[in-house]
Amino acid sequence: MYTLIKNIKKLVGVEYLPHPYLWGERMDLLHSIDQAWLLIEDDHIHSFGHMEDWTDMPVDKEIDASGKMLLPCFCDSHTHIVYAGSREQEFVDKIKGLSYIEIAKRGGGILNSAERLHQTTEEELFESAMKRVDEMIRFGTGAIEIKSGYGLSVEDELKMLRVIKRIKEHSPATIKSTFLGAHAVPAEYKGRQKEYVDMIIKDMIPAVAKEGLADFIDVFCDEGFFTVEETDRMLKAAAEYDIEPKIHANELACSGGIQVGVLNRALSVDHLEFTGKEEIDALQESITMPTLLPGAAFFLGMDYPPARYMIDSGLPVALASDYNPGSSPSGNMKFVLSLACIQMKMTPNEAINAATINSAYAMGISLTHGSIVAGKKANVFLTKDIPSIEFIPYAYTSDIIDTVFLNGKVYGKSRKRQAD
Ligand code: NIG
Ligand code: FE
Repeated sequence: MYTLIKNIKKLVGVEYLPHPYLWGERMDLLHSIDQAWLLIEDDHIHSFGHMEDWTDMPVDKEIDASGKMLLPCFCDSHTHIVYAGSREQEFVDKIKGLSYIEIAKRGGGILNSAERLHQTTEEELFESAMKRVDEMIRFGTGAIEIKSGYGLSVEDELKMLRVIKRIKEHSPATIKSTFLGAHAVPAEYKGRQKEYVDMIIKDMIPAVAKEGLADFIDVFCDEGFFTVEETDRMLKAAAEYDIEPKIHANELACSGGIQVGVLNRALSVDHLEFTGKEEIDALQESITMPTLLPGAAFFLGMDYPPARYMIDSGLPVALASDYNPGSSPSGNMKFVLSLACIQMKMTPNEAINAATINSAYAMGISLTHGSIVAGKKANVFLTKDIPSIEFIPYAYTSDIIDTVFLNGKVYGKSRKRQAD
């Protein structure tokens, strides 16, 4: 099946020499073709070019994209979208002056979500998470990494990961799953953190590996959560099963999380609000993608990570939403772009690269996603009639999405999951 999208005002994110990711000055290079066509064959990009070079051939479907731009879908490499209920009471507590850590210490935060998840069936979790996936796709996201971490027992962590597996099977978006048993110490292990870590290593990781439920392992390595030494032990235990790390690091303090991630060849280290020269030096020459989640800094009213310093030091940077009920209840990657530009002084080109090719790398899919390259998955979106690329982060609440294509098919004409 061939679908031709023609008269595209601007085809954005074209890579002639594909890279696994972009770094330093290269992050500001966003190649595009004006007045372009794109040919989709089944679920992948077949070819593309200037309208004047289109040689007529029979196709099954033709779409006139006059006035519209076409971009690769966003890749959201860090989310926690399987959860029960929402936590707006804590939102109010924060408005009244409590900090994220104070809320967590009072049994709120992650433990609050763990309690609710325990009471919720797999079916209910699946249905609510699929609604979030549907909303994210409509905002232009075509690939989503989803973490466990509200289970905190063998049984409930497996329950979450099985829900993620079902999402993988049912959603047209590309899904990657991450085991995050070390998200917080559960109430029944209070004061016995070492025993909880031992249990993760002895029971949880083998059980998760046995069912093949996790692409990655994550640890919340930060002040008040898990130590560098505990993180190292858990990452090494997962490596025995070839489960690669992606970790939460330096959200609350200069915790050493970045360094332990780099030493364990983590695919990404995420958050990084507390990052200085030492951390940047550790990331140089590594395979680890620094991933920034400005939605969390925005929602918690914290300082933003030093994106400019990182890029100017020659590092790559990826962007993700951190969609979760406590610190970032939104999966809108376009708003993440706006925050990156406005609050972290990234250029629109850098932000778009960070949310496409670099975030694809941060979830292990940059060979197949994140840019316009022949052979890559046809997960792309057409914008409405907009004047420029810069308009996307500038118009920070406007819905600029016209049509999303996943696996080469138009997504959700009706409000149902997948139209055709
Ligand atoms: O990425 N930092 C740790 N975990 C999540 C928050 C989860 C929650 O509060 O429920 C985050 O911000
Ligand atoms: Fe997170």
